[in-house]
Amino acid sequence: MTDSFPLPPKSPALRVVPQPSDANVHGDVFGGWIMAQVDIAGSIPASRRANGRVATVAVNSFVFKQPVFVGDLLSFYAEIVKTGTTSVTVEVEVYAQRMRLQDEVVKVTEATLTYVATGADRRPRALPDVE
Ligand SMILES: CC(C)(COP(=O)(O)OP(=O)(O)OC[C@H]1O[C@@H](n2cnc3c(N)ncnc32)[C@H](O)[C@@H]1OP(=O)(O)O)[C@@H](O)C(=O)NCCC(=O)NCCS
Repeated sequence: MTDSFPLPPKSPALRVVPQPSDANVHGDVFGGWIMAQVDIAGSIPASRRANGRVATVAVNSFVFKQPVFVGDLLSFYAEIVKTGTTSVTVEVEVYAQRMRLQDEVVKVTEATLTYVATGADRRPRALPDVE
């Protein structure tokens, strides 16, 4: 049974429509493609918080709850859930609007990733103070 949700009342970090080249022969989108988009979406609030470059240090959890199909409109919501001295942990939730029909919204993926603020030497650097 597929649950249908309204989209969360906030701005997504990223929206994208998977193309045929992102899918297997059955038309289901590759998990690795979704993981790459999740990594990009999560890095957006992380690099804003770091005020500069970040590197992904860990994928703490990743759940594919429902399949993703070519032509779905995917919205990636990314929220910082933890910060440390150099690290930022981000929760990413992905919703699909099936074949761009606005009335069927399905939560397809949820993940938590940790990013580390890095300098030009690629070593960890302290997060700047929050203004
Ligand atoms: C990211 C990187 C610079 C961190 O360097 P490091 O010497 O391991 O850093 P540290 O041990 O000082 O840890 C830095 C922070 O990461 C956190 N961290 C390290 N490993 C972690 C893990 N497995 N899970 C969650 N957090 C982790 C630490 O807790 C620390 O956070 P804090 O400063 O907020 O307390 C280094 O591991 C690296 O270059 N990794 C490759 C990154 C990359 O290329 N990613 C793209 C995919 S290939």
